[in-house]
Amino acid sequence: MADKLIIFDTTLRDGEQSPGASMTRDEKLRIARQLERLKVDVIEAGFAASSNGDFEAVQLIANTIKDSTVCSLSRANDRDISRAAEALKGANNPRIHTFIATSALHMEKKLRMTPDQVFEQAKQSVRFARNMVSDIEFSPEDGYRSDMDFLCRVIEAVIAEGASTINVPDTVGYAIPELYGEFIKTLRERIPNSDKAIWSVHCHNDLGMAVANSLAGVKIGGARQVECTINGLGERAGNCSLEEIVMAVKTRKDYFGLEMGIDARHILAASRMVSQTTGFVVQPNKAVVGANAFAHASGIHQDGVLKARDTYEIMRAEDVGWTANKIVLGKLSGRNAFKQRLQELGVQMESESEVNAAFARFKELADRKSEIFDEDILALVSEENVTHDKEQFAFVSLSQHSETGERPHASIVFTVAGLEVKGSSEGNGPVDASLKAIEAHVKSGAEMVLYSVNAISGSTESQGEVTVRLQNSGRVVNGVGSDPDIVVASAKAYLSALNKLQSKADRVAAQG
Ligand code: KIV
Ligand code: ZN
Repeated sequence: MADKLIIFDTTLRDGEQSPGASMTRDEKLRIARQLERLKVDVIEAGFAASSNGDFEAVQLIANTIKDSTVCSLSRANDRDISRAAEALKGANNPRIHTFIATSALHMEKKLRMTPDQVFEQAKQSVRFARNMVSDIEFSPEDGYRSDMDFLCRVIEAVIAEGASTINVPDTVGYAIPELYGEFIKTLRERIPNSDKAIWSVHCHNDLGMAVANSLAGVKIGGARQVECTINGLGERAGNCSLEEIVMAVKTRKDYFGLEMGIDARHILAASRMVSQTTGFVVQPNKAVVGANAFAHASGIHQDGVLKARDTYEIMRAEDVGWTANKIVLGKLSGRNAFKQRLQELGVQMESESEVNAAFARFKELADRKSEIFDEDILALVSEENVTHDKEQFAFVSLSQHSETGERPHASIVFTVAGLEVKGSSEGNGPVDASLKAIEAHVKSGAEMVLYSVNAISGSTESQGEVTVRLQNSGRVVNGVGSDPDIVVASAKAYLSALNKLQSKADRVAAQG
């Protein structure tokens, strides 16, 4: 039987560290469920000690997810490790992932610790964690830029203390595939007890090589765990992308010879869910999940694909969850057809009342838009378009007027803590006027650092999906809204971002 490659997803931890990508507890749970459907082996659910919100999210995911291992990150200290263990109490398979920086630069400038102090702290922390949970992963942060002799000394010691997975991060995305692969190989060859642990790769994408580096770590270095995120979400240029790793290892099984437990048919739904939740739009030419990934525009390619699909296709679109971009439902479709389509799309509703609420939103949309595509349904059920009672701001209605030669004007009705308020304003355009009308009432003082509109299903009849990124007092949040009317979608996105700014989320940075 072929070796197994463990897929460790860190969308909810390292992915979420991306400025603006922070998610609520419920959004994280929803994504964790999708990751479980995808059959990822390990879900890094968060960094329990970083904030109460993260603790609760890890706890909720640990109590809910049954098939995947649930992991919490923790710095190498007793308090962080105890918080992680506490949050993971309800998990079937808990893992504590503890880390400390080992590069000379990080030890001296960031930690202000000597190598001997770091060595002792790494050892003590793994020993402490091992008394609480049997599955311990250790990461030497900035491992790839660390001194080889020192790294060997630290890793040998933590394996002796019981760390069963050793993860070697390229924290700053500095590696080159061949060199990174050799680095892992050398570590494994030089450390006497290296066979007692599973070796893992964790690559950032600053030079666009996170996937290539990870694959080299697997092929040359012999790593058997890859840490990755959906859509490659992550700080700066992001992390290694899960969908690319999975499809590379699957498509080139002849070369890698590895098995995975992943059910790739759920990849696209996971990609959409993460992009709609975080507002990080997927570029059209992104491998596997981009809108053009399986589109054959040129006549030559189309002709080839029609004659024999493997002339230009190395993967089948349906194997990663793409279905034909067809009209799936319309105004006359009933609740059962709607529910069945949700199931086919891999969307799981918590209760019948949630299905009813989503069906009501579907009917409302079908009244305004004759053709409803899968993308519309996915947007409709994304958390962002569901108004929760607990939310501070919610959209009610909007009217706006724009005419050539006149300054556009908008009036908007929305709720603040359940009470309706009305705001009006002029602006440079209808979107500007609408958002100024909200701001005139809310007075958040937030700075808009990004505004983007994307057509969900490609044509002008499609729904517009708007992302608004706001920054206030050092916090950055993204709000997403969708509607056939992009002015309404913009107002929804703005209110959603304001809701996120309202929620308290002071947290300790993982690399802090
Ligand atoms: O990139 C990194 O070094 C990390 C560690 C905390 C594992 O994310
Ligand atoms: Zn990282």
